[in-house]
Amino acid sequence: MKFLVMNGPNINLLGIREPELYGKETYQALLDRVRAACGAEGIEVEFFQSNHEGALVDRIQEAYFEKVDGIVINPAAYTHTSVALLDAVKAVKIPAVEVHISQVSEREEFRQISYIRAACVKTIAGQGVEGYCQAVRFLKQFLLQKVKP
Ligand code: DQA
Repeated sequence: MKFLVMNGPNINLLGIREPELYGKETYQALLDRVRAACGAEGIEVEFFQSNHEGALVDRIQEAYFEKVDGIVINPAAYTHTSVALLDAVKAVKIPAVEVHISQVSEREEFRQISYIRAACVKTIAGQGVEGYCQAVRFLKQFLLQKVKP
């Protein structure tokens, strides 16, 4: 099983950026943590982070041709604005889990809208960086048809 773990704008600044919201763990520490979780599940993983919407769309399209089995995606601010990312995930038909480090449902009103949610089998929010590991484990079970969306 091969997964792609994607992050949108400013996630590369984890540890520096608003630690009271996003924690003290760096982006590199996040990668190490998720790589370990994937290793424990026997999942091959690739990571991608970009501050550019089009680059994220391109990476989702590439995942189709690479036969990626599942996508874990935190589109960050593009969650609340991007129809292009929604369309990309729908287009490739790769099961995807939406992750947010913070509890978006308890934040500003503009963060209540998620365009990508409509294309995802599950949303995990407010679990900190551990949410990515939960997403990986869920996606594996989902692909093995052991859990439903
Ligand atoms: C975020 C929540 C978004 O509203 C915000 O723009 C981010 C990070 C999160 O992980 O909690 O950049 O996706």
